[in-house]
Amino acid sequence: MSDKKIYEGKAKILYETDNPEEILVYYKDDATAGNGAKKGTIADKGIMNNKMTAFFFDLLAKNGVAHHYLRVISDREAIVKKLTIIPLEVIIRNVAAGSLAQRLGLAEGTPMRLPVIELCYKNDELGDPMVNRYHVLAMNFATDDELTAIQNISLKVNDVLKNFLKEKKVDLIDFKLEFGRDKDGKVILADEISPDNCRFWDSDTKEKLDKDRFRRDLGGVEDAYKEMLRRLTGM
Ligand code: TMP
Repeated sequence: MSDKKIYEGKAKILYETDNPEEILVYYKDDATAGNGAKKGTIADKGIMNNKMTAFFFDLLAKNGVAHHYLRVISDREAIVKKLTIIPLEVIIRNVAAGSLAQRLGLAEGTPMRLPVIELCYKNDELGDPMVNRYHVLAMNFATDDELTAIQNISLKVNDVLKNFLKEKKVDLIDFKLEFGRDKDGKVILADEISPDNCRFWDSDTKEKLDKDRFRRDLGGVEDAYKEMLRRLTGM
């Protein structure tokens, strides 16, 4: 296997493989918050996120959602389909929390009548600024049809995850997705699904089981990730 590094991000490293249609993803323990302002590590996060992402993508595939995950090859490594990444971060919210609660002056945990979809331009230097449909079309980040596909897939992912997690006594508060185009131009779900990019709250106690424990210095970060893994897989 070739080990040519394509890109190193905050939580993952991508490598070329011998197959030009596949990429190797390596999950690190590094954690950042506030667009890199806060840095740290979460012990074994890479191992747990690789397992949880594989679990969620498997669940989504069984429910008809096409995604880039192909196979897990080690504790921290998975092989995914090579895609052209669409430069958007797509945030889906069921309950007001985080930056939305702040922006609108709402208490965290305020229920909402409908899921909310937000789009951000994926650009670290600019701090991933929020954009709307007009910006996306005007800047050619994605086409109208692609945006419609992104919206439909996002809502489907939300339904599948929310319903599954309810049985595990977890509320899906919000999460971030990324998408790419495959070689035929089809929009495919990419990136990861883990406590790094989702807010998970215990349904009864509303205890946070996600990266907000790191972002907000709440303690018990590793235990929260372990608890999510246990609820999902029994591991
Ligand atoms: P926010 O409330 O801080 O905007 O975050 C909304 C959701 O998106 C939350 O589940 C965390 C996730 N997220 C990321 O995965 N990466 C990011 O860069 C940001 C800002 C949020």
